[in-house]
Amino acid sequence: MTDNCTLFMSSPIVQVSNLTKRFGDFTAVDGVSFEIRQGEILGLLGPNGAGKTTTIQMLLGMITPTAGSIRMFGLDLATHREEILGQVNFSSTYISMPYSLTVEENLKVVAKLYGLSDVSRRIDEVVKKLEMEEFRFKVTRKLSSGQMTRLTLAKAILTEPKVLFLDEPTASLDPDIAHKIRGLLKEVRRSAGLSILYTSHNMKEMEEMSDRIIFLQKGKIVAQGTAQEITERFGQRDLEEVFLKLARG
Ligand SMILES: Nc1ncnc2c1ncn2[C@@H]1O[C@H](COP(=O)(O)OP(=O)(O)O)[C@@H](O)[C@H]1O
Ligand SMILES: [Mg+2]
Repeated sequence: MTDNCTLFMSSPIVQVSNLTKRFGDFTAVDGVSFEIRQGEILGLLGPNGAGKTTTIQMLLGMITPTAGSIRMFGLDLATHREEILGQVNFSSTYISMPYSLTVEENLKVVAKLYGLSDVSRRIDEVVKKLEMEEFRFKVTRKLSSGQMTRLTLAKAILTEPKVLFLDEPTASLDPDIAHKIRGLLKEVRRSAGLSILYTSHNMKEMEEMSDRIIFLQKGKIVAQGTAQEITERFGQRDLEEVFLKLARG
């Protein structure tokens, strides 16, 4: 038992192999392979249209890959969908939810869908962590974009997932809230051993958050490693310069 446990801890939580998505004759994701280990924050970087969101949507089972495989917790997503997705959550700027419900009601719906126990305590906790007290009873339709982003993050954290996919989670947050959210995510990662896949166009944030970075361009991985490794390999001063160099060919 102990041996199995150790094996589990050291093995990758997410294994993506040769993942490909074609829309008609356009290839959005082109033979991408990577792993995410337990407690690791992997940054997915790349210009608009590189295939980041499409990759995340395949990892969430929202769209079907044209080719390749996705395994999580050692299971194949194609055949163990419910088992896997119950332990996974996500947040995205483009998420939609019932706009006529209040923030609190939306969180309750998520709690119910995931069959959570101790719902009130969990919602209290998340509301406090994300500083959502002042709009907890507001109708979702009336939220500002920063409040909306915090609600989508709250939904993602509420279910205590083992893997979190965050698509531009801090895109519409002011620097103060964005800073707090980064701190919170790092804390959850430390305390719960959460694995996180993260996209952002903020290069400083990428450098600060990511244990490892994958750089996607036109659906292909063109660089990977720590921010420092990538920066050195391309002979640039920082990730921002690498980004500009790669994105401009
Ligand atoms: N449903 C779709 N049908 C056709 N093309 C799509 C679809 N979804 C995404 N694409 C295309 O795939 C490419 C990658 O998109 P996306 O994954 O959203 O990129 P990113 O998130 O890196 O900006 C883009 O060129 C986009 O227009
Ligand atoms: Mg995107």
